[in-house]
Amino acid sequence: MKKSDVIQLIFHNKLPVEPAREKGLAFAPTNIALCKYWGKRDSELNLPMTGSLSIALPDKGALTSLMLHDNGCDVITLNGKELPGDSAFVLRTTQFLDLFRPERKWFLKIDINMNIPVAAGLASSAAGFASLVSALNDLFGWKLSRRELSILARLGSGSASRSLWTGFVEWHAGVQADGMDCYAEQLKDEWPGLMIGIVSVAEGEKPVSSREAMQRSVDTSTLYTAWPRKVARDLVILRQALHVKNFSLLGGTAESNALNMHATMISSWPPVCYFLPETIAMMHKVWDLRRSGLEIYFTQDAGPNLKLLFLENDKDKIFEHFPQVEMIQLFE
Ligand code: PMV
Repeated sequence: MKKSDVIQLIFHNKLPVEPAREKGLAFAPTNIALCKYWGKRDSELNLPMTGSLSIALPDKGALTSLMLHDNGCDVITLNGKELPGDSAFVLRTTQFLDLFRPERKWFLKIDINMNIPVAAGLASSAAGFASLVSALNDLFGWKLSRRELSILARLGSGSASRSLWTGFVEWHAGVQADGMDCYAEQLKDEWPGLMIGIVSVAEGEKPVSSREAMQRSVDTSTLYTAWPRKVARDLVILRQALHVKNFSLLGGTAESNALNMHATMISSWPPVCYFLPETIAMMHKVWDLRRSGLEIYFTQDAGPNLKLLFLENDKDKIFEHFPQVEMIQLFE
């Protein structure tokens, strides 16, 4: 099954070539997984081995605007800078756009503004692809449901399937080969006092992409066989923790889930280690603070930065211990 087959299933030979309006515009938030997506059952369609559950950072993400451009190529501007046509970012975006224009009949001027570091484990590709499909939906008047947009965003980057909503979002692994049952959905639960703190250890490009790292874990880590069981259990616990607003349960499960994911990477060959000395020092600090009674947990993605989880009541104490933290309110 190829990506173009999925496009066929969604559009049934009716892909519009004329825009419905002059400009398409959409914002998509980035998301942080509390239960991670790690490993694919189909790498062409980005179908995951397991489900996952995330929280959106409502004001952090990508704002994408699109207009037709008749120069015979796409022009992409990222945060005000035009990107060279042969850059990895442009090639990946253009390839994705080709899915929707098999005959290359139109090209776009794309303006993307992101208020998150690109490719530093802060899910910039998730927000990027989710805002791109939503802006295309706007420009061409596709009138697709969010579920369909979630499926399309997944074809760009797996975690993008979760970036179509704010709040808590669960991405279902599905079982079908065409992935039509593999999409995300917003959960009803809200948690006004819950906060995330981003502590930046490094903002450079990551040494190994998450795509490559997860494939290596699946192929070479003997610990990977335990991962689907861990996820199945954590998803049940997280849903319950959200339901009863048990913060220790939520934080502990999210932290343990992230550490289990990193254990599969470290045990891969060649090993993948996103920890920097500063990352480990910060983990110890979190554990020390927790031992002293402060309810604080962390999660970590495919990069060296930690995301702290805490409750609004402890905001001042967290700020005292991590003066460089960027605090994010998750619900209004
Ligand atoms: O969607 P990708 O290919 O960028 O992979 C994301 C992987 C993690 O961020 C590490 C986990 C997750 O669920 O977001």
